[in-house]
Amino acid sequence: MKRITPKFNELIHSDLELVYSRMRETYALADPTIKAILNRFVSPSGKQIRPAIILLTGRMLDGPDDRIISFATAVEMLHTATLVHDDLIDSAQFRRGNPTINSQWSPDVAVLIGDFIFARAAHLAVDTGSLDVMELFTRTLTIISHGEIAQLLGNQHGDMHESYYQRIYAKTASLFETSSFCSAILSPCSKTCQAAMKRYGYQIGMAFQIIDDVLDFVGNPAEIGKPVGSDLRNRIITLPFILYMEDHRDDPLLQLILNHETIDEEDLNKLIKAIQVSDAIKRSIQKANEFSQAGIEQLASMPNTVERSALIEIAHYIVDLRI
Ligand code: IPE
Ligand code: IPE
Ligand code: MG
Ligand code: MG
Ligand code: MG
Repeated sequence: MKRITPKFNELIHSDLELVYSRMRETYALADPTIKAILNRFVSPSGKQIRPAIILLTGRMLDGPDDRIISFATAVEMLHTATLVHDDLIDSAQFRRGNPTINSQWSPDVAVLIGDFIFARAAHLAVDTGSLDVMELFTRTLTIISHGEIAQLLGNQHGDMHESYYQRIYAKTASLFETSSFCSAILSPCSKTCQAAMKRYGYQIGMAFQIIDDVLDFVGNPAEIGKPVGSDLRNRIITLPFILYMEDHRDDPLLQLILNHETIDEEDLNKLIKAIQVSDAIKRSIQKANEFSQAGIEQLASMPNTVERSALIEIAHYIVDLRI
């Protein structure tokens, strides 16, 4: 898989190494039978965006290094565990360019490995020594679970945009929000500053999931490490679909998707292609840009440091990178 090393990671390179050595220590406690499976997680293979946000926020606000690193490790592990379970739910075959645990081993193994990583992540959250952080950490996991369940059951009622934004907040933006917010909580920083960092995480998390949903239509599988068209195949309604639908209300295929009915492969591919070339893609990217810009605005009152510039860069990277 093509790996892009953004500039912001250079700034926190050594801290990210510490995050991974903390992870290796915690996986070393595993039973030898599952160590072989956990091996794939002991060196960086994802984009490490959440730990980058945590480490940069902590540095910008003079936070305590060790507790910030524990928290960054806890969050990256929580994220990893949600991916292991998400791939099982989505029947995904590839993740980060490699076969998923559910496809390489079995669904049962994916459930148990996910659980193991969740448990170790919670342990690291305890190492932050902050009850507020632990409370937010567990609350976020609850929100993510609700988001994934809501999506799985596909109960589509009320306004489609509203329910889409609620769902992507729950499954993705909530963890971004908790990342920047808790890093601020662990640092010497006023309530106003904490609230601004919370909003920064929320806004760029929303942008991040919209772009992920766009890439599900137009991404290059070799670059994003997962195939395209999976959301529609799984009847997951995302922003490009909603915007396309608004302009093509009479298309009977759209109703089949909404009603979770069977569609033959040829029709499904036709629909995916139609969405790919429609302006729903451009309009979705525009929406992601608006969220990203709103995130950047939250940083206006932060200390004018290289870390703040890197957090601005992350907001741009999220919307630019993978297109
Ligand atoms: C994937 O997250 C899951 C979503 C929230 C869309 P990332 O795209 O951050 O995954 P990695 O860690 O870089 O593989
Ligand atoms: C994943 O969303 C969100 C969580 C892991 C909670 P997706 O299902 O869209 O993520 P990808 O596309 O598989 O990475
Ligand atoms: Mg998925
Ligand atoms: Mg999913
Ligand atoms: Mg996706």
